[in-house]
Amino acid sequence: MKSRNLIEKEYSIKIKELKKYNKLYYDKSNPSISDSDYDKLKKNILELENNFEYLKSIDSPSTSIGAKPSKKFLKSKHRVKMLSLSNAFDFNDLKNFEKKISNYLNINNSNLIEYSVEPKIDGISASLTYKNKKFILGLSRGDGIEGEVITENLRTIKDIPKVINEKNFPEDIDIRGEVYIGKKDFEKIKDRFANPRNAASGSLRQKDPNETKKIPLKFIAYTFGFCSDFKFKKQSEFLDILKLWGFNINDHNKVISGVSNLVQNHQEFENKRFDLNFDVDGLVYKINDLDLQKRLGFIANAPRWAIAHKFSADSSFSKILNIEIQIGRTGALTPVAKIKPVNIGGVVVSNATLHNEEEIIRKDIRIGDTVKVERAGDVIPHVLSVDLKKRSGQEKKFSFPKQCPSCRSKVIKDYNKITKKYDAVQRCSSEGYKCEKIAIEKIKHFVSKDAFNIEGLGKKVVEKFWDLKIIKLPFDIFSLNYSKIVKLEGWGELSVNNLKKSIEKSKVINLDKFIFSLGIRHIGQENAKLLSEYFLNIESFRKLTENFNFNSLSSLDGMGETQIKSLKNFFYDKINVNVVNKLIPILEIEKVEQNKKGKLKNKTFMFTGKLLNISRAEAKSLTEKNSGKILNNVNKKLDYLVIGEKPTTKKIKQARDLNIKVISQAEWRKLLN
Ligand code: IVH
Repeated sequence: MKSRNLIEKEYSIKIKELKKYNKLYYDKSNPSISDSDYDKLKKNILELENNFEYLKSIDSPSTSIGAKPSKKFLKSKHRVKMLSLSNAFDFNDLKNFEKKISNYLNINNSNLIEYSVEPKIDGISASLTYKNKKFILGLSRGDGIEGEVITENLRTIKDIPKVINEKNFPEDIDIRGEVYIGKKDFEKIKDRFANPRNAASGSLRQKDPNETKKIPLKFIAYTFGFCSDFKFKKQSEFLDILKLWGFNINDHNKVISGVSNLVQNHQEFENKRFDLNFDVDGLVYKINDLDLQKRLGFIANAPRWAIAHKFSADSSFSKILNIEIQIGRTGALTPVAKIKPVNIGGVVVSNATLHNEEEIIRKDIRIGDTVKVERAGDVIPHVLSVDLKKRSGQEKKFSFPKQCPSCRSKVIKDYNKITKKYDAVQRCSSEGYKCEKIAIEKIKHFVSKDAFNIEGLGKKVVEKFWDLKIIKLPFDIFSLNYSKIVKLEGWGELSVNNLKKSIEKSKVINLDKFIFSLGIRHIGQENAKLLSEYFLNIESFRKLTENFNFNSLSSLDGMGETQIKSLKNFFYDKINVNVVNKLIPILEIEKVEQNKKGKLKNKTFMFTGKLLNISRAEAKSLTEKNSGKILNNVNKKLDYLVIGEKPTTKKIKQARDLNIKVISQAEWRKLLN
């Protein structure tokens, strides 16, 4: 018979192991053991506890929630995309936001714009589908397009009505809101999770809903996705109706107009935030009028009609141990301070950005200095200032490298023609894959959520595979040596199979995501979409690698000199061209489905002069919503030149010379109608 000592040792090793796997799961980039091995380990621990009463641990699966969230949820497409929000930090950001909106909507008095002001609870968003008054499907946000089916787990939440008997409840509606854990409830389990958000997320994603039940989750509703019979006029009105239907809404929701009032309310609320029973990281402002919301629409992943006003940062003092240079995907060299780990607002921070050389000089930051470090929400922590009183004289100045620390290419600064100044940011002058560090970052971008979205190829894995020469260029991903990978530490049959599946799945990709994945500088999601709508299929995009016909792009609204120059640089590089050419036959890049229903189908438009009662931006977006295309200059491809007040006469003349129809704003309206 084993001694008590030995049994305790065995038990503690198993608990440690379990903890490690739980943690690995949260750091998604690390694959963990198979579900069955995990369950075996858990069973072992429980058996030991049953046999030997003296064994106890707060990390025991008997007391903690089942811990390892499952990866195996079915996925389902959201009927209406789940968007994210852009951030504002101060009065100026908000003024800017409001200015853009009033310009777009052609509103003169922005003080009249009403906002629905709602606390931004830091939890996990969920979408609940009700059909015929019954809760039938619950999805996590996922990547915003497709979420995980977590219906049964959501069903365990008391705040979520399962049946709604109100007369005016729509036949078919998605109710959206935040799943979170109250601060008091979190106190009881805080040893096991980094923060309330992790606890909520871990609990929601349990395979066994009985595990979810162990943690008291709450739900607050704040918006809708799909809705069959839509009859609300205002967001605030909708919130009130949600309450009538039996949902919890936030008690602190308000309606406010005017940026100054928003800021005042923000200050008041910020002082109160620690007394609330939920974690908040700011306030959300939504244009209250739902018709205006519809007109404003969205850009890439975020609505034009809403913004998150974040709370000010937490800060702490720490010592700079060293300064290192980080190389980004676009070659930007960022100095990063390695600091003595310090807890800032509940998160342990050991790196803080120094932005660029000018900032280091301006703030006179030296290695060995004691500095104030600030962190706000999910923004990268940064060094605010030096505590000069703490200087001993032993501190060392940092000299910024003249060559890229990775590939030794010259470090350059871009010249900005508009501001007539050199950028503060210094860059490695090599193009893409020639620089090792840039190459790694480019591959991380290639597999990221908004590009190829390959699960199991997180940042850490990409770095490891790069070191092991398993992946050097993007196409290597599609011919991985799985028998080699399965033998690596931390990998097993199951994780390799999952990776294989996820890579296979990623091969079918939309043209815009493909273009975005290439990581061409200045070609973000918006521009990638624009290019995909111009080229329509991969064959015509690929022709750029042969004909270098970049000037044709200049007529595209949104493609400026900067973008075109960047495309040129990209395609003049042989490795890039090779990457594109090798990827194409491996993938199934889908053609762009043109909106065939629109009245302006196959027609191109350009606007000149001031339009009446509508902003240029909205006129363009209306044209596009009706399948028309916007061009940037007058050329043979243009069908209509729409003229407002005081048009550029040169453009009209050019159009007449080319036999292009010149029409008034009213005539353009007629085409739409
Ligand atoms: S509205 C407009 N309202 O914030 C589309 N989101 O960064 C955004 N959130 O994923 C949703 N409180 O998890 C909205 N009152 C609120 C919110 C809220 C918290 C979260 C939500 C979303 C994220 C967007």
